[in-house]
Amino acid sequence: MKKLLLKSASAESEIYIERGMLENAPALCAGRFPGRRAHIVTDSNVAPLFLKKITELFEGAGFSASSSVLEAGETSKNLNSVSRLYEDFSKARLTRADLAVALGGGVIGDTAGFAAATYLRGINLCQIPTTLLAQVDSSVGGKCGVDLKQGKNLVGAFYQPHIVVIDPDVLKTLPEKFFCDGMAEVIKYGFIADGDILNSLSAELSGEALLDIIFRCVEIKRNIVEKDERDLSVRMLLNFGHTIGHAIEKLGSYAKFSHGQSVALGMKAALKAGIALNVTKKDSLALLNDLLRRYGLNTDTPYKASEIAEAVSSDKKIFSKTISFILIRTPGEALIYNLSLQSLEQLIYEIFREDF
Ligand SMILES: NC(=O)c1ccc[n+]([C@@H]2O[C@H](COP(=O)([O-])OP(=O)(O)OC[C@H]3O[C@@H](n4cnc5c(N)ncnc54)[C@H](O)[C@@H]3O)[C@@H](O)[C@H]2O)c1
Ligand SMILES: [Zn+2]
Repeated sequence: MKKLLLKSASAESEIYIERGMLENAPALCAGRFPGRRAHIVTDSNVAPLFLKKITELFEGAGFSASSSVLEAGETSKNLNSVSRLYEDFSKARLTRADLAVALGGGVIGDTAGFAAATYLRGINLCQIPTTLLAQVDSSVGGKCGVDLKQGKNLVGAFYQPHIVVIDPDVLKTLPEKFFCDGMAEVIKYGFIADGDILNSLSAELSGEALLDIIFRCVEIKRNIVEKDERDLSVRMLLNFGHTIGHAIEKLGSYAKFSHGQSVALGMKAALKAGIALNVTKKDSLALLNDLLRRYGLNTDTPYKASEIAEAVSSDKKIFSKTISFILIRTPGEALIYNLSLQSLEQLIYEIFREDF
């Protein structure tokens, strides 16, 4: 069994990564938490696959288990869902000794994580991610939160899950397009921190090879978050592909392009920006395009430079006039490049010409 510890100023997360690990989650929780009530939060796609089994496992480990099932999809990541979870936590009579279990993709992890972070000022939290994206990224590091109609992830908290149980075998039921979304984040890790990952990405990833990739990604994230939990310095590197990616996601009203697809396009734009600024080695772009195609991720955007520039500058999270844009020097080595919003807009016009 592979285990990583993430020690931050606020808490210690135990991260378990192994095939078949799902079965062990309740026993791990029983060993770590004093309470014997577990409330499982999941979505309408994951519930028919795993909820009965996980409920029985928690009961077998001595817990009284209850659950909430949210409608699958990004539209559930809102304050109404959080409010509903508070009600359900309360009906389940959870105390701070008890725990919430987030069983699902990033939407469930972010929403249940935020509810757990704030209910009774913080109850115990176990993340059991069931998408590749959630396994390599969102379940680790403590960022949780929900969307407002004004934009994504605008309400949230930094709240480290106490236990994260990553079982690559649960990905067997994941539709391919969601698997490929997660691959965009895997490729991101390769470019920012470990060029070797990029060499080990074959079109058919499964079994031990997939386990190894997930472990390496989580280890990278653990190392970065331990240095900078609050996103003030090195954690920004994880935003590679996300500045322009978020703009593309927004232009498609969070429906046309998924998060992973948008990040794929954002990474391509960031490499082109780096080449224009003489920071990025030119052959990085061919490598990225090849990897994106291998996982069915877009390399073309239907949007005009003016639309992307407008969407970037109206991003509600950009309050200052300076942007920390993540560039790649060479695969495996990234840097934070500070530039004015105006310079970024100019760059966008340069990048998104007809031949993007
Ligand atoms: N907190 C963070 O640090 C962080 C990082 C990256 C992304 N995110 C957030 O994560 C969200 C995206 O996460 P996601 O891509 O996991 O989306 P998601 O949670 O919507 O899951 C994708 C789809 O897969 C289904 N699904 C989940 N597990 C399954 C399984 N094992 N088998 C079959 N179907 C399954 C879900 O029901 C859903 O339809 C976004 O809201 C994004 O903002 C957060
Ligand atoms: Zn992302």
